Amino acid sequence: MSSVAKIGVLTGGGDAPGLNAVIRAVVKAAFNSGIEVVGLEDSFDGLLDSARTRTLTPKDVTGILRLGGTILGTTNKGNPFDYPVDGLDGHVDYSERVVETFNKMQLDALVVIGGDGTLQIAHQFYLMGIPVVGVPKTIDNDIWGTTSCFGFDTAVSFAADAIDRLHTTAEAHKRIMVVEVMGRYAGWIALHAGAAGGADVILIPEIAYDVDKVAAHLRERERLGAKFSIVVVAEGAKPQGGAVTLVAQAHAGHVERLGGIGALVAAQLHEKTGKETRYVVLGHLQRGGAPTAFDRVLATRFGGKAVELLRRGVFGRMVANNPPDIVPIPLADVIGKTKTVPIDYDLLKTARAIGVSFGD
Ligand code: F6P
Repeated sequence: MSSVAKIGVLTGGGDAPGLNAVIRAVVKAAFNSGIEVVGLEDSFDGLLDSARTRTLTPKDVTGILRLGGTILGTTNKGNPFDYPVDGLDGHVDYSERVVETFNKMQLDALVVIGGDGTLQIAHQFYLMGIPVVGVPKTIDNDIWGTTSCFGFDTAVSFAADAIDRLHTTAEAHKRIMVVEVMGRYAGWIALHAGAAGGADVILIPEIAYDVDKVAAHLRERERLGAKFSIVVVAEGAKPQGGAVTLVAQAHAGHVERLGGIGALVAAQLHEKTGKETRYVVLGHLQRGGAPTAFDRVLATRFGGKAVELLRRGVFGRMVANNPPDIVPIPLADVIGKTKTVPIDYDLLKTARAIGVSFGD
């Protein structure tokens, strides 16, 4: 029997389809092991105030496997070590308060489901003595140490479907269609959705592009008989020698918001090719709605493994997909790193081999 009798679970950072599937697996596996689960609302905010918690039993998670979002709520603004305070032009360190609440609630361990930022916070609390198990989450698929994250497959499936739809209208009007997808530091969504949707150009953060080369590629396609083209661009893609396109600068408690590159590239391609051009920003649609079967399964495996680890007393680890297994890896090895698309990734090479331009 585990010495862990009561655990907290929270979701932090931007949501990803599959969060609820992890929560469900954690609650059911823990319950069946005699462990009580407390849901903490809105990331670590739930531990700043013990009123923002609720006990979760299998009954409370019935029917959530297929739901997007998170029943616990989330935020990417509440880092307890650097908490933005309204009306005060600064931040406060509430970390001791979190530890106090954790102890007051008589929790034995925490399951923290989140992206790189949330996992860094989890690791800091682990170093302060809180037994933590991390579960990686991001639609961007850029967390170090795991081959995949739940949410990514859902985002790619949605984006590929959008590209399919754009194909028919692009063809009808003989236009260039530019599709902006998410991907802040890594081009996994753009590359996979672009490959699945048959894009002609894919622009990703890992490969700085030259818009003249993109335009030349599209003109050459036209010379060879193509009547339309599809360009997929990750929000974090950068022109050679240039910077990312932002809709908002960083300010207190917020990272800068990316966006606008689709419109920019579309305008430039219209100017340089003379072709009619339109753009679409898929934005948060990629994060909404039901997770795919693949993401439900991965999320369930992560949740089950997290409970297995805490029952064994293994803490300070993140569960990671390392096919065919889900394995624990030290949080310390993961944080602060980004899993970008390797330049020798076979899909990237194959995309080039079948005529996709990366604008370089
Ligand atoms: O990290 C996931 C992600 O969806 C990024 O692709 C995107 O840049 C960011 O979150 C958007 O965050 P927000 O929901 O705060 O606008």
